[in-house]
Amino acid sequence: MTERIFVAVAWPYANGPLHLGHIAGCYLPADIFARYHRLIGNDVLMVSGSDSHGTPITLRSEQEGISPKELVARFHDSFMESWEGLGIQWDLFTSTATDNHREVVHDIWRTLDEKGLIYTAVMPLPYCHVDKRFLPDRYVEGTCPHCSFDKARGDQCDNCGHTLEPQELKDLRCRLCGATPEIRESEHFFFSLSSFREALLEWVGPQTTWRPNVRNFTVSFLEGELKDRPISRDISWGVPLPMDGQDSKRVYVWFEAVVGYLSASKEWAKLRGTPDAWEDFWKDPSCRPYYFIGKDNIPFHTIIWPAMLMGYGGLNLPFDVPANEFLTIEGSQLSTSRNWAVWVPDYLERFDPDPLRYYLSAHMPETSDSSFSWKEFQRRNNDELVATFGNLVHRVLSFTYRNFDGQVPEPGDLDQRDNEMLEKAQAAFDDVGKEIANCHFRDALRHIMALSQEANRYLDSTEPWKTIKENKPQAGTSLWVAVNVIGALSTLVWPFLPFSGDKIRAMLGLSGTVSDSGWMHREVAANQPMNSPKALFTKLEDEVIQQEEERLHAGR
Ligand code: MF3
Ligand code: ZN
Repeated sequence: MTERIFVAVAWPYANGPLHLGHIAGCYLPADIFARYHRLIGNDVLMVSGSDSHGTPITLRSEQEGISPKELVARFHDSFMESWEGLGIQWDLFTSTATDNHREVVHDIWRTLDEKGLIYTAVMPLPYCHVDKRFLPDRYVEGTCPHCSFDKARGDQCDNCGHTLEPQELKDLRCRLCGATPEIRESEHFFFSLSSFREALLEWVGPQTTWRPNVRNFTVSFLEGELKDRPISRDISWGVPLPMDGQDSKRVYVWFEAVVGYLSASKEWAKLRGTPDAWEDFWKDPSCRPYYFIGKDNIPFHTIIWPAMLMGYGGLNLPFDVPANEFLTIEGSQLSTSRNWAVWVPDYLERFDPDPLRYYLSAHMPETSDSSFSWKEFQRRNNDELVATFGNLVHRVLSFTYRNFDGQVPEPGDLDQRDNEMLEKAQAAFDDVGKEIANCHFRDALRHIMALSQEANRYLDSTEPWKTIKENKPQAGTSLWVAVNVIGALSTLVWPFLPFSGDKIRAMLGLSGTVSDSGWMHREVAANQPMNSPKALFTKLEDEVIQQEEERLHAGR
């Protein structure tokens, strides 16, 4: 039965290029998940876009002396190139700067307002007398009231994950000039989050399939003091408020960015000429929405956005929020300001996408932080991709191509060993599929690598390179089996390594791409003409890795 799967992925701030932390945190897992669901024939919609507003954008544009609009355009283009280069396949990757988005945000705001869930109140806010402006969110820094971390930002503490309001911080500093801000009053709009506490607890309680860190974080957040949220800011860059006379204010970036999931779905439906199609993913209660995010985004996706949806009414709540932990670089936290990061555009200039997809899948920070290092990248590439997987494919296909006139050989009778090998390939579809469907990407990849090791063992014991001399039909049988296991692997590995999966398919002489073939083993027929095999992966030499390490440390 076809299922509907909505894949919502965090909207990256368009204030810098993507780095490996972004990719491991949410874009790669979402892409693997969506590719798998498309392959098994499900109806998938995967959307996201550039988060174009907020203080992360204006701070950087001020630093660079360009308009926020220019900054966003530059990095939006950079994101699009990275998606293309890494093979991240969107149904739509848009931005929060569209008219459509503004309209959808206004609709949500007005509806919540009509239901009495938005009210105004005067609040004390940090105001810098040097810069002569209110200091929203990331324009202030100070000490976290929850964990005493001394570099907490005005919107969130990076140390303990609590969401914050600037005036809650102790020892406030203006990030523009370092002065201590004074506190001034300003009238703002508030979303009545506190009125959703019971409903949210009732909804989250039974979510036993959620990752424990996501569920525990959410429950303890809800059991703490759940405060109403100001949803306007005294700034000029952002979505205007949906009423006249409020020109000095904009909608708070988080309040509008999460609406992006809905506005992107509507935009996608309009673009394909079926303007109501978004309803399949938002109103059909059997559709399962998955939100792929990094752990710093949890409260916005398990509390604030669900409360907004409950208040609005009639739209699907998240089914799962498989938030990942952080990827560190050589054990230290990634930092854009300290330039401690590996940037996707740099990586793609020098390397192929699949080795990175492989590495990040194998090291995905699913249950705890994990660390990237160039040495480990080299080891995984050389020992696993080249020596195990690539070698299996290459030795079988090139030997077959050379000895059987460039065609898949004709099998004779299959013995127990042959049948067992084929059964293992068959069984892998279930095992790998289950793990991906449960968002256990590391385990899924482990099954795939185990199958390729199994195939290497099968060849070590059947030794077609030797039997070909005295018994060519027997060698043909073993190679036919191996070719079929490789055919299965081309599909199994495709959600993870789409470029390699398609290359294998082409070498086998099969028409179309893996995405046309579906999540199943289709027999590679005898006498099928093959294409001349080429190595899938290349060994990375020590010098190349050293150069990358030097680049990384020089940037610091
Ligand atoms: N831009 C935010 C970040 O990088 C994520 C926004 S997710 C959204 O942390 F849903 F709010 F858009
Ligand atoms: Zn804190």
